[in-house]
Amino acid sequence: MTILEEYRAKHPRSAALAERARQAIPGGITHDIRYLLPFGTYVERSQGSHKWDADGHEYIDYWMGHGSLFLGHCHPVVVKAVQEQAARVTHVGGSHELEIRWAELVNRLVPCAELTRFTMSGTEATHLALRVARAYTGRSKVVKLTGHFHGWHDAVTAGVYPPYDVPMSAGVPEGALAHVVVCPPNDIKAVELAFETGDVAAVILEPAGGASGTTPTISGYLQELRAVTSKHGVVLIFDEVITGFRYAPGGAQQYFSVTPDLTTLAKIVAGGLPGGALTGSRAVMSMLAHRGDPDWDRRRRVAHAGTFNANPLSAAAGVATLEMIGDASLQARANKLGDTLRQGLSEVLRRAGAPGEVYGEASIYHVSFDGKPGLAGPDKPKKGALYHLLRCALLNNGVDCSPNHGWISTVHTDEDVARTVAGYERAFRAMVTEGAFDGK
Ligand SMILES: Cc1ncc(COP(=O)(O)O)c(C=O)c1O
Repeated sequence: MTILEEYRAKHPRSAALAERARQAIPGGITHDIRYLLPFGTYVERSQGSHKWDADGHEYIDYWMGHGSLFLGHCHPVVVKAVQEQAARVTHVGGSHELEIRWAELVNRLVPCAELTRFTMSGTEATHLALRVARAYTGRSKVVKLTGHFHGWHDAVTAGVYPPYDVPMSAGVPEGALAHVVVCPPNDIKAVELAFETGDVAAVILEPAGGASGTTPTISGYLQELRAVTSKHGVVLIFDEVITGFRYAPGGAQQYFSVTPDLTTLAKIVAGGLPGGALTGSRAVMSMLAHRGDPDWDRRRRVAHAGTFNANPLSAAAGVATLEMIGDASLQARANKLGDTLRQGLSEVLRRAGAPGEVYGEASIYHVSFDGKPGLAGPDKPKKGALYHLLRCALLNNGVDCSPNHGWISTVHTDEDVARTVAGYERAFRAMVTEGAFDGK
């Protein structure tokens, strides 16, 4: 039986649900990254590091809520906090004490954080960050790096995937991209050149490297970036939607010892519920504060709304989570498992004779059939079909992960890792057996 024949045979109910979804939802999916050929699985329940699909199969999960479930699925403390909050009040139509506690936790953990404003997603957080930086500096241009992902609002669609001159999405007006300068990563000279126009408000980047560290940041680059942005009065924004609280309690900025002016957060900050945040220095974040001065409040302040900002359910999950991860021991445990898993996957990839590379840092691993990207990131689109096939082969063997990376939680175990490595080995061998890499 081929990988896809086995996949179809094992997932009849998911196939039926996918067909039904295609009638109700464009393309049948609700996030582009969930696109899987021939169809994705439908998940019914989860616990810890495992989840179960509609056909009754159990998986060791490395999606972990797109990286948001650092404490694992349905952590009992988070569940209890959310249940109690749901019974108390889900929207107060105003302010509530839990949002203060939530902001205090962020401000205590994240090195650059003095003031924090909550959003509903990482996309909203990066959108707000650029607006705040522009208002603060009075400048209009922003620098972003090729291969770095910051969500889906217009400005950050530039330079995400090769070919980098084509924005990530159709429907983005040229005007929205006219103020975005795209520079290659790990190239401080390119950024300095961009600063020569004098109109650059901000540099935004994923500090550990584009696409969750797919193109790792080289040693020293963040320090250089900090120095040149300070010199030119440019706001340095670390997008820590992935790395925040994961690399260290204070995120990648603590891990790499470089403090930006602003940081965008989502995922772990809201404990796996919807939510995000913009945090940073008091001076820059105060652009969002009313002063009671009509000229400031109406013309110079950054406006920010959002019905569900800091909603009590997300706040409850966020507070419960941040209270548990302030002690670096959980990150250390997940990072160590990351080392074991990366080493195990590298070995089975080689043993199976599959051409590729396994790498990563902290509690994230990447499997690449395109080779490890150079300093400037991938130069051509991924061999997409191979990743679809790998995912199906893995799902046949009890493992689920995103197309080319996995996020390890604090509740994955040594046994999970051993079973995952065995599952990958069977998947790689199945791909080799059916000639998936021939001529590639
Ligand atoms: C680095 C980074 N920034 C921003 C975002 C967007 O966050 P959200 O999906 O919550 O809008 C993501 C999402 O994965 C991300 O990885």
